[in-house]
Amino acid sequence: MKDLLRTEHLSRADVELLLSTATEFAKDPTTAANTLAHKTVAIYMSKPSTRTRLATETAVAHLGGTPVFLRGDDLQIGRGETIADTARIVSQFCSALLIRTFAQSDVDELGANATIPVINGLTDYDHPTQALADWLTIRETFGSDVSGRKFVYLGDGNNVTTAWLMMGAILGAHVVAATPEGKWAPNKEVVDLASTIASRNGGSIEVLHDARVAAKEASVLYTDVWMSMGDPESERREKEKALAPFAVTEELMNLASKDSIFMHCLPAHRGEEVAASVIDGPRSVIWREAFHRRTTIQSIIYHLVRGELQGSSK
Ligand code: CP
Ligand code: NVA
Repeated sequence: MKDLLRTEHLSRADVELLLSTATEFAKDPTTAANTLAHKTVAIYMSKPSTRTRLATETAVAHLGGTPVFLRGDDLQIGRGETIADTARIVSQFCSALLIRTFAQSDVDELGANATIPVINGLTDYDHPTQALADWLTIRETFGSDVSGRKFVYLGDGNNVTTAWLMMGAILGAHVVAATPEGKWAPNKEVVDLASTIASRNGGSIEVLHDARVAAKEASVLYTDVWMSMGDPESERREKEKALAPFAVTEELMNLASKDSIFMHCLPAHRGEEVAASVIDGPRSVIWREAFHRRTTIQSIIYHLVRGELQGSSK
């Protein structure tokens, strides 16, 4: 596998390798400090980022390379140069490219035309690097045995939901998405594909529309912002109303299992998708989760530039 374009492309063995190496990079970030010596990694973002950008720049530095940050309108792509031509040029200079943008198809096209690894740093469809950080944090808490546990995402059926469902499916977990019905539920194609992957790995996917039912006895309650980057402001009020019952409150946390944790990809809006007392409370693992954005992105770049990921067969 040359690229990490979609979470669903990873095999279970890939995820195991990526998490294991990330664990090493968490202990000592400098163990592979010559990997990118005298090399550059491009980071191209058409949406804002705090964690993904900082994590990637830091990861590249730890691997001995130099990050080159490019904002959306920095490239000639904004003036009509094609994605294919851009891919060829970036491939001549850089050892890898992490991209954050809107359309998944743009990222797929970059991957198809670049000769270097292309990494999806978030699209409207998916957020694969986030899912790896999430699962490393989950494993640090509960170990790698997912049997008898329920891993619940609550809120908008968005890019983070795709990553959550696909990664849980790859790892054979029982994953749940609790969302409103209708336009903020996860896409049917995403749910169908995640279900296929889950059944192959001994896991299962469930989509629920009742937050309390979802939260009951859960090991993880996970949420994300209600308004994602690029969402139309005109829908805000309608969306907030629909999502309000899925806010992670203390009451919801109390329905979850006694050892449950709260997770959030961040940025967070206290008092909207999560109560301040939950996200800042004793069960929240958000800072460790954010820390692992660097360790996992470092692992992804390390293994991709060495050509060590297999990809899934489908
Ligand atoms: N979680 C995440 O992707 O954060 P940023 O948008 O700050 O990169
Ligand atoms: N769903 C959010 C995730 C941010 C990390 C967004 O796309 O804005």
